[in-house]
Amino acid sequence: MPELSLRAVTDDDDFQSFMATMYSVFLQDPQPDEIELGRKFTELDRMFGFHDGTRWAATAGAYSKKVSLPGGALVPVAAVTGVTVSPSHRRKGLLTAMMRHQLDDIRSRGTEALAMLFASETLIYGRFGYGLASSNAVLSGRVRDLGFRTDVDLGAGTVTEADRETLLGAAPAIYDRALANLPGRMDRPAPWWDYWLHDTAERRKGAGSIRFALHHEPDGSASAYAIYRPKSDWAPAGPNGELHVQEVRATNPRAYARIWRYLLDIDLIRTMQYDGAAVDERLRYLVADQRALQCQVNDAIFTRLVDVPRALTLRRYAGDVDVVLQVSDEFCPWNTGRFRLRAGRDGAECENTDAPADIAITARDLGAIYLGGVSLQALTTAGLAGELTSGAVPATATAFGWPVAPSMPDHF
Ligand SMILES: CC(C)(COP(=O)(O)OP(=O)(O)OC[C@H]1O[C@@H](n2cnc3c(N)ncnc32)[C@H](O)[C@@H]1OP(=O)(O)O)[C@@H](O)C(=O)NCCC(=O)NCCS
Repeated sequence: MPELSLRAVTDDDDFQSFMATMYSVFLQDPQPDEIELGRKFTELDRMFGFHDGTRWAATAGAYSKKVSLPGGALVPVAAVTGVTVSPSHRRKGLLTAMMRHQLDDIRSRGTEALAMLFASETLIYGRFGYGLASSNAVLSGRVRDLGFRTDVDLGAGTVTEADRETLLGAAPAIYDRALANLPGRMDRPAPWWDYWLHDTAERRKGAGSIRFALHHEPDGSASAYAIYRPKSDWAPAGPNGELHVQEVRATNPRAYARIWRYLLDIDLIRTMQYDGAAVDERLRYLVADQRALQCQVNDAIFTRLVDVPRALTLRRYAGDVDVVLQVSDEFCPWNTGRFRLRAGRDGAECENTDAPADIAITARDLGAIYLGGVSLQALTTAGLAGELTSGAVPATATAFGWPVAPSMPDHF
């Protein structure tokens, strides 16, 4: 076999062949329009892999993104993407070498204290210190069974269909405003919006083309949007349409309720599915029959603290805490050590210490609890974290928890 060299993508032709390998290993045909859109937010020097002189044998990369943390800070994150090893080269350690290279690179860049990714298979990334930190929910049901609680205030706004341009005139500001209260979500600059709204047969999954709705307040300001695809269907007994909802965002509860009411009332629709929901999605509490709205929970973002003390100072905490964490990190040994975290709702300090540790935890499990959606108490009860000082875990678990469940529907 030709010798492999680890290198970054050099130019656009090289990027095309890099992407061709990536699509191929993901068992897809390359999508030229998607690649072109993705190129707009791709930094070539962050895309790298093993090349045999003729073709790419393995690929990996990262986008420079920002993620919303508990407490509302929007901080830089390496959004890891495009990780593939060709079938001819699998299980020879290429992924391990790429993870090594990438985490060293993120550390030396110094901008990002965090890396995040979606895993194609959940067994892959724990060994590299990534912990499963958030879940997405798929909500589905028969719209006529759902109903709405009668005490829901729908406000006095109006919902209308919008074209893409009108949506793009209003939705980014609504999204950005909502972001601070949505831990685990990433920023969506204009090229990412284009990618998010890109409408291909593959993305439609048998439904119709993408549609948009906008909610306006009585004063004319836009305060909610919905992105969805209807699927026409006729059963022998009559209409049997499906509604595939991609995203609903609102700046206030009435607008959120009103736009959902609009979606669920569309004539000829009988069933709905919302793939981009959070586990604590408000719709679950607005419907009259909660059982009729089924909720399937799927794993979402894996989080890796590349710089443990810095990462711990970036987020806010649900309660005051003063705790010494004994962190073990085999893959990034610079994180192994004892760190004293003094933190609360208003800020956090974290520094190396020689003081005795209260809690022992791996970097992977620290990544899992980082967004506030996984309980340190549960991990301790499961034997994955250790309570070294009696009573340290409940208080620390409360501080690390967060009232809003993290989630992230935008795949990258
Ligand atoms: C997942 C993938 C990148 C692994 O690449 P690889 O070069 O074969 O991985 P490595 O040889 O470095 O394996 C490192 C370790 O991870 C394990 N591992 C790798 N892929 C795994 C998987 N899918 N499931 C479980 N374990 C896996 C290996 O067995 C090995 O374990 P060991 O250290 O105990 O021996 C490759 O199989 C692939 O491209 N799969 C298809 C695309 C994909 O799913 N990419 C991930 C996108 S998030």
